[in-house]
Amino acid sequence: MQGEFLMDLKNAIHECWGKIDEGHVATYIPALANVNPYQLGVCLFDVTTDRKEQAGASQVRFAIESVSKVIALLYAIDQLGLKAVSSQVGTRQTGFPFDTILNMEITGESRPLNPFVNSGAILISSLIEERDGQSPFERILAFSRKICNDPGITLDHEIYRSELATGDRNRSLAYYLKARGSLSNDVTTSLDTYFRQCSMMVTCESLTNLGAVLANDGVAPWNGERLISSQAATYTKSVMMTTGLYTESGTYSVQIGVPTKSGVGGGLVAAAPSHCGIGIFSPALNPVGNSVAGLALLEMISRELKLDIF
Ligand code: DON
Repeated sequence: MQGEFLMDLKNAIHECWGKIDEGHVATYIPALANVNPYQLGVCLFDVTTDRKEQAGASQVRFAIESVSKVIALLYAIDQLGLKAVSSQVGTRQTGFPFDTILNMEITGESRPLNPFVNSGAILISSLIEERDGQSPFERILAFSRKICNDPGITLDHEIYRSELATGDRNRSLAYYLKARGSLSNDVTTSLDTYFRQCSMMVTCESLTNLGAVLANDGVAPWNGERLISSQAATYTKSVMMTTGLYTESGTYSVQIGVPTKSGVGGGLVAAAPSHCGIGIFSPALNPVGNSVAGLALLEMISRELKLDIF
């Protein structure tokens, strides 16, 4: 890396550090409850200059959790086409928490409202089938390593066991989808794929690379290879903007204005179109399940680098 820094990320971390005390690590998944809350890391990838900068806990591995829903959605679109995927999962806000079942009951729709609530994400994972001796999860893992430019992504068995032990609500969502005729593949395999994809371990840098591919219209800025279609990148950024932060999506659309997706491991991926990819990690969450210091840092970065798309 040469020349001017994009911004003083170390100082930004310093300024947002106090926000950590306003949140709590996720406790509903026992393995996440053991994570040290006092961590904040960030990595930026400017796709106009190919410059990458990072600070703080940017190389610490953490559970990707719901950020994996972005990767699974992109992979499903890549494999089945956008029409097939969007006919099975919608793009609407639910107005309910991420593990809700209510949205489908209330609207009477047989398809989940969007791919980032658990019902929609489980359905998306169910669309990936075994191929050439590779399980659906192995295929998602291989795609994750590619789109995050990170061969070090692996499954954490302790997180996975925790997901299995506390996953009854997700099981109920999957069986409900099956009963409604929305999920046609095997429920057990679909759930196992979902639990495993949530248990992949990533760093801020991996998420930054993912964000950079989205920001760069589907082309990997590190080697010029097209990894996803332009249509898939645009569609996914739109859904991140409208539903990526659950019931806070509207709030942060106004405050930050950059397509973003969160996970209860404390990760955030953001993609500022034609500008930069951002990966952030800070495990203390607000009640909705979004990283408190992470969002404060993202807001600061968006303001400083003028990333707000509106
Ligand atoms: O399904 C679950 O409960 C988790 N494995 C993932 C949830 C999650 O990350 C929600 N996001 N903020």
